Amino acid sequence: MTKADTPQLILGQTLAFSGDPFAEGLAAARHERRGGVLIRGGVIEKVGAAEALRAANPQAAVTDHGEALLCAGFVDAHAHYPQTPIIASWGKQLIDWLNTYTFPQEMRFQDEAYAAEVAHRYLDLVRAHGTTTVCSYCTIHPQSVTAFFEAAATRNMRVLAGKTCMDRNAPDGLKDTAQSAYDDSKALLERWHGQGRASYVITPRFSPTSTPEQLSALGALWAEHPGCLMQTHLSEQTDECAWVARLYPEARDYLDTYEMHGLLGAGGLYGHAIHLTDREKARLLETGASLIHCPTSNTFIGSGLFDMDGLRSAGHSVGLATDTGGGSSFSMLRTMASAYEIAQLRGRALHPAELVWLATQGSARALKMDRRIGNLAPGLEADIVVLDLASTPAIAQAAERADTIWAAVFPTIMMGDDRAIRQTYIAGQPAHAGAG
Ligand code: GUN
Ligand code: ZN
Repeated sequence: MTKADTPQLILGQTLAFSGDPFAEGLAAARHERRGGVLIRGGVIEKVGAAEALRAANPQAAVTDHGEALLCAGFVDAHAHYPQTPIIASWGKQLIDWLNTYTFPQEMRFQDEAYAAEVAHRYLDLVRAHGTTTVCSYCTIHPQSVTAFFEAAATRNMRVLAGKTCMDRNAPDGLKDTAQSAYDDSKALLERWHGQGRASYVITPRFSPTSTPEQLSALGALWAEHPGCLMQTHLSEQTDECAWVARLYPEARDYLDTYEMHGLLGAGGLYGHAIHLTDREKARLLETGASLIHCPTSNTFIGSGLFDMDGLRSAGHSVGLATDTGGGSSFSMLRTMASAYEIAQLRGRALHPAELVWLATQGSARALKMDRRIGNLAPGLEADIVVLDLASTPAIAQAAERADTIWAAVFPTIMMGDDRAIRQTYIAGQPAHAGAG
């Protein structure tokens, strides 16, 4: 047997899902106190009890993580990697924040070497936080997309990304045109979509920074490539919604500005989706579109309280995301904590099982990647995070009282950060030696 054929057996507590805990409750979660994941060729072969897996696979190379918790690597369904350096910039709400911090920063991606440097920095940061897949916006510059996909390929990370398109209401130097957005997006899609672990995502930034002509051109591109996802922003702040109504007087509402131009569908990812009308909700549900909840961004930029309970109960597909750098953290643990806090403000306590599910399966489903990633299950790619459930003295003393896995994991969700990441496996390869 060659080394490449040698199976790996990773041991620890394991947490997997057989269904959706929002619909099925805790019956959807599978926890093994002494569990294991058998991996061959970067793919999960079996998930089960540690001792049974050990006995059946005596040839496997074993790594024992002891009391630590193995679950699917986190899936961040909406981020802006170019905004890495401006994370935690003070004092602005959305439109001022874009003009003051974001656009000047994104201008710098004209320089390909700078784009590559930030792409590498960003991917190292997310991996150290236990995130194995991200769906990122790039900038208007095609080289920002190339830099990102190349940096991800060197880490064998499954990533999704696209060239951000803007042809109005942005500074000179940060605008394309309807035609160049179409041409550049098409060329990048043809170069990268399905290449290794990369997927191309058609990316109009949001209705205010695109002309109707540009939205139409991107809608046409999407119709030509229905296997691609399309990502954009929707109803994040009330000022933004009012601006959209002024820019598109003929549209029924914000969502309609996308639908009128062929940009509404099951492969659509709509970031934020806070201030929705009943018609917009009904239409999003009917079309099977996904909403991406970005809780740290929504509190940090002052956007509002996403209606997780109402939208999930109605049957909407919801993914979870950092929205770096409008979001104030690279950590999906911190993002889960923020989702918990926002739901509490709306009167609903999200269960730890629901939070972990959102950060893994929920996002993977939104990204149409749940047959590849987002769970510990046979046939899925072995992207796994190993969580130390006692990574700081504050967390350890709270977890010590726990009598269930949920009570044990919740302090890490609420107070954990990159110190809780004992290891991140990417397609079965250990990729990060954590502090734990
Ligand atoms: N709306 C349009 N662009 C952006 C962005 O970069 N970040 C956030 N949070 N909202 C946006
Ligand atoms: Zn965003």
